[in-house]
Amino acid sequence: MGEIPFQIRLFETVDSTNNKIKQAIEQGENEGVVVVAQRQEGGYGRQGRSWKSPVGGLYLSILLRPQFASLAEKAQRLPSLGLVISIAVWRTIKHFSCDEAVKIKWPNDIVYTTDEILGKLVGISVEALAEAVCVGIGLNVFRPSEAIEAGDKYTLTYLEDISDKPIEKMEDIISVLLHEVECVYNKWLTEGFSPFRDEYQANTSLFGRSVQVLTIAGDVMYEGVVCDFDEAGLLCLKEKTGTIVRVNSGEVHLA
Ligand code: BTN
Repeated sequence: MGEIPFQIRLFETVDSTNNKIKQAIEQGENEGVVVVAQRQEGGYGRQGRSWKSPVGGLYLSILLRPQFASLAEKAQRLPSLGLVISIAVWRTIKHFSCDEAVKIKWPNDIVYTTDEILGKLVGISVEALAEAVCVGIGLNVFRPSEAIEAGDKYTLTYLEDISDKPIEKMEDIISVLLHEVECVYNKWLTEGFSPFRDEYQANTSLFGRSVQVLTIAGDVMYEGVVCDFDEAGLLCLKEKTGTIVRVNSGEVHLA
């Protein structure tokens, strides 16, 4: 443990930086490979959605190889990795913008949220493969020349529009981001999600809000008030009946 031996590989165009990392995993490459592209032709998000990736965004994937004592421990601990990565990304955004509207949306999106706007700023995917994990981060940095649709109830928010200072180059964001990822990852490896719970809860858009959790097909699975994020990073909802349900996946919308 300690420093992640980052090896950054830059590309102009790829199908998906995640796919590059998956190839690196198949080839047995070490933890720390980072793939960054200026644009993606086949960028994808969670639940099979496409991630439009024109020039101006940051598209970055990281190969991690967390070790677990057993499969049961892996199943119990891995879901919270996405949450701590979203803290690293949230801290990175806060490095460039003090705007209070920047929030983490469970499980691992970064949004820009006001009474009028729900803007997606960052999408994060975490894919567990045999013995390795591919973390993918798509950050809207500069507004592209052609407007793109965000889908769902979202608009898109761009870091350049909310930043306190001009963003000179993508490398500045990458170096802050990798530093923050290294910090949270090392702590998570030894201590799990617990040391991050307060920070996550304080900066999430959902805590104390009435929400619906939807299936991929859009059906309502659960409805209730978000009352906690547990040790394993599960979303805890208090239903009308008073029952607490723990949710490990799904799309969450304000009710
Ligand atoms: C989501 O919100 O559904 C997650 C989006 C993840 C997008 C990033 S962009 C870099 C990496 N490469 C991909 O194809 N996807 C991730």
